[in-house]
Amino acid sequence: MKVLNFGSLNLDYNYTVSHIVREGETTSASQVQVNLGGKGFNQSVALAKAGISIYHAGLVGEEGIDFYDTCQDVGIKTDFLKTVIGRCGHSIIQVDGSGQNSIILYGGANRKNTKEYVDEVLSNFSFGDVILLQNEISEVPYIIEQAFKKGMTIVLNPSPYDEVIEQCDLGKVSMFILNEIEGQQITGMTTPSTIVTALEASFPNAKIVLTLGEKGAIYHLGDDELYQPAFVVDVVDTTAAGDTFTGYFVAGLIKQYTVRDSLIKASKAAAIAVTKQGAAKSIPFMSEVELFEN
Ligand code: RIB
Repeated sequence: MKVLNFGSLNLDYNYTVSHIVREGETTSASQVQVNLGGKGFNQSVALAKAGISIYHAGLVGEEGIDFYDTCQDVGIKTDFLKTVIGRCGHSIIQVDGSGQNSIILYGGANRKNTKEYVDEVLSNFSFGDVILLQNEISEVPYIIEQAFKKGMTIVLNPSPYDEVIEQCDLGKVSMFILNEIEGQQITGMTTPSTIVTALEASFPNAKIVLTLGEKGAIYHLGDDELYQPAFVVDVVDTTAAGDTFTGYFVAGLIKQYTVRDSLIKASKAAAIAVTKQGAAKSIPFMSEVELFEN
């Protein structure tokens, strides 16, 4: 079984601010860093650091060489990573004194996927292989269609939610990993339990993982429902916490850990990630997760 993540790669401009800037306000940042990120890339880093052999497909611009180097360093396979003319996707991220963030996303190369490129990548995968997707690249509905035709297991993190998610045939998704806001946007419900119930009614055969930030996460499939509290740590930067959780949880299921064990490892990994600055670079290796005590 092969594992493919078809997802975004962003250069993250991280600004440390005392508070998230308000409308009409100008504020000064005490620090700026340029880090590697993007929901897709972060999730591939988490999968790789959790010990999964992962292919990352996606597009970077001409200044994207560092993505190849980091993939090599952490063991992500770059056979399907491509450089295109123009700029990488990038994010402008404000991180405030309590570690909370606010993100502006510029798609750049991530928006240059074509059906031909999708077909070329997917021609290397077949029945039973796993594909992980987020919503920061173009052609997500087409990727879902084609991956489903091949019999791949589709895991979707519908983040960030926008009208493209409504164009996707979500009935073809085997597992959703989403946060409360995305759950509300998809179902119109407002509480964790009503969101899960509504998702189950629409997608009865799909595994649902609803992440609740510092309140933990819920896993649901049929009669199986597990709640996993979050581990309490001193928060420095919450960027990529959700991506870390997603990568580690998917890794756990691929390694055939129990759902509970997968939830625990994913929660520990996310807890470690929020104690560090940045996106991909804040994601721990499995050895660190195994030593984590709280
Ligand atoms: O989930 C965190 C990521 O969201 C950041 O790395 C940023 O690039 C945005 O895509």
